[in-house]
Amino acid sequence: MIESDISLSTTIPAPAAKMVHIETWGCQMNAADSERMLALLAAQSYQLAPNAESADLVLLNTCHIREKAKHKVLSRLGVLKEIKERRPGMTIAVAGCVAQAEGSRLLKAAPQIDVLLGPGKIDELPRLLREHDASGKRAQAIGFHRHAPDPTPNLEAAPAVAPPTLTGKHEVSRYVNIQQGCNNYCTFCVVPFTRGRELSRPAAEILAESAALVAAGARELTLLGQNVNSYGSDLTTKPSFASLLRSVAALPGLERLRFTTSNPHDFTEELAELFATQPRLGRYLHLPVQSGSDSMLLRMQRKVTVASYLERIDWLRRALPDIALSTDLIVGFPGETDAEFADTMRLVEQVRFGFAFMFKYSPRKNTPAARYANQVEEKVKEDRLAQLMRLQDRITTEIHAAEIGLVRPVLFHYESSKNPGQYYGRTDHFRLVRVTSAYPLTGQVHQVRISSGNKVGLIGDLVD
Ligand code: SAH
Ligand code: F3S
Repeated sequence: MIESDISLSTTIPAPAAKMVHIETWGCQMNAADSERMLALLAAQSYQLAPNAESADLVLLNTCHIREKAKHKVLSRLGVLKEIKERRPGMTIAVAGCVAQAEGSRLLKAAPQIDVLLGPGKIDELPRLLREHDASGKRAQAIGFHRHAPDPTPNLEAAPAVAPPTLTGKHEVSRYVNIQQGCNNYCTFCVVPFTRGRELSRPAAEILAESAALVAAGARELTLLGQNVNSYGSDLTTKPSFASLLRSVAALPGLERLRFTTSNPHDFTEELAELFATQPRLGRYLHLPVQSGSDSMLLRMQRKVTVASYLERIDWLRRALPDIALSTDLIVGFPGETDAEFADTMRLVEQVRFGFAFMFKYSPRKNTPAARYANQVEEKVKEDRLAQLMRLQDRITTEIHAAEIGLVRPVLFHYESSKNPGQYYGRTDHFRLVRVTSAYPLTGQVHQVRISSGNKVGLIGDLVD
């Protein structure tokens, strides 16, 4: 009798929310996949853990693009193993391209992994976690999407918008995936093996997600794919990328629309001309060239020559004379001679990119270039990378110095958490700007007079 009295007066505590800690490596595609996984976990009442040590679920979203990226994942898994030994209830999930490419080898090497998830299967994360929780056994989903028929638009898909409390991110600038995979098979690149063949997302789904993100506070969207210019070619209605851009750009409330990655091979004059007619596209494009040497481009199977790359830049500069460009460059691709490397240096001088992502060639399993006999010595790669970086730093610094005194429209993305009152944003040329303000600026566009700049970015003052 007494016992039952006690039990009646005791309130049953709500189950404690589960805590997730996520670490993301690699490209913007991975950043977008992480946001999607967090949106799925938010629907399961997960909250963001302050660190891996206090998380119930540690999720590594991994990158396989270069050998170094893979090694970082393995060493992180070593640290997590020690944490898990102290906290046996912790779940370790590995997603992304290392999960896809290494699969069972990774599971064998790292027994601490509970869940393995390929980039084509991220929507299965909640199911795998449930399976693992119920059975205590490992759960995995890797492999590629099947191609045909066209995917049916899923307008009710998991909430596209992960709450900022979970992503720890700022909602002003968001990614929208428009396409998975790549069909290009550049000879150095592992992406077609880790993310599979190109698969376009139905335009209706992209528009619905974009509208939801804008309604949730996004002012800038970036449409993501490995080769966005070929968007739609695999769908039966063959919608063009230009038509998709026009419809997303028309969304009320959207300030800026960006897209990446544009493979120069599929970049059309029609797309270049959009920069003249669609102000929301801004004055910036990322157009990876990889090398300034025709013989290198041929061996890389990039399907463009230096001349056809420069022709695309002419189209863009005709549409928008002051358009800012950035690029990706690889040094030390197999067989690269001093003369071929000098061609890359010359192209960088000639185009004057605003900035560049520069890499030493890294041999990847399954890719043709990894089997080429004439691999370049590590020391030579290092020297070339250092030379190229010095050159690009000089150009970026010069471009930034030329901005001093000019007034530019800046969309502010966030306030510094370390230095409140300092706001970071980007000009329409995609240059990073810092402004100090007594009033909140996040999410707003203001005219800013640039007062100084270095190789990283610009500092300025509000003029309005
Ligand atoms: N889809 C993009 C590239 C995606 S990978 C495009 O069309 O170009 C991002 C960048 O990583 C590439 O542009 C390339 O510069 C670099 N990269 C890819 N594989 C590499 C490798 N094996 N070694 C060094 N850099 C590599
Ligand atoms: Fe890689 Fe070339 Fe595609 S760089 S992602 S195979 S366009």
